[in-house]
Amino acid sequence: MTAFKSGDPTTLNRLYGRQSGHKLRMGQQALVDELLPAISVPEEGEITAGGLFGFDRPLHFEIGFGSGEHLAYRADMLPDHGFIGCEPFLNGVVGALGHIRDQHLANVRLHMGNALDVLARVPDGALSFVYLLHPDPWPKARHAKRRMMNKGPIDLIAAKLKPSGEFRFGTDHPIYLRWALMVMREREDFEWLCETPADFLKRPGGWPETRYEAKARRKGHEVWYFRYRRK
Ligand SMILES: C[S@@+](CC[C@H](N)C(=O)[O-])C[C@H]1O[C@@H](n2cnc3c(N)ncnc32)[C@H](O)[C@@H]1O
Repeated sequence: MTAFKSGDPTTLNRLYGRQSGHKLRMGQQALVDELLPAISVPEEGEITAGGLFGFDRPLHFEIGFGSGEHLAYRADMLPDHGFIGCEPFLNGVVGALGHIRDQHLANVRLHMGNALDVLARVPDGALSFVYLLHPDPWPKARHAKRRMMNKGPIDLIAAKLKPSGEFRFGTDHPIYLRWALMVMREREDFEWLCETPADFLKRPGGWPETRYEAKARRKGHEVWYFRYRRK
């Protein structure tokens, strides 16, 4: 298994950004106390589809799912597939738990914390899809190492995807866009699935708008969508 090397300065060995916001209401706290433990990724050991869902199935992995709109939409669309979502922000996790309860999703497992810790425990070549939607931009150059789009995390994503597996990335941040294109241009292990500008300017089918994205559009931001196939 490819380990997540926390000593490597190009990887994210700690969490940046906030981990909780407004106080939870009683119903939200109940979701955290009751539903979250029931569907959490185990704390230790290898993470496989069989171990999580009882039998082998295509596995999807979302890094930083925010309030879980995309995760829930995909899981609802593909009920025979398994979904792992990771998000350190408690109020976001509560949002995802609400979707999972309301949509009766039995094919989602969550981790409240750093996605890379969990990704490192997935066997190499086990994932069909990895999603990284609107990662925190860390626009200042001196914070560039905090960006998820860096060699360490992308090496890990590459290792965990199966051949022909797909890495989807979206951003509305021009600095992040340039940075991501630079990082991905260096990669010989990914093929950018792009034939015309429409491929990155228009949201691809099966890629729902998240609350974050809707807000970005309301502010007049453009949004760019990228699909990379693991060679
Ligand atoms: C700008 S938000 C976007 C949320 C969501 N992907 C969307 O499109 O609505 C970025 C999210 O990444 C999460 N995040 C930051 N670092 C992370 C990490 N190491 N592992 C998992 N999630 C992380 C943040 O907590 C935040 O919710």
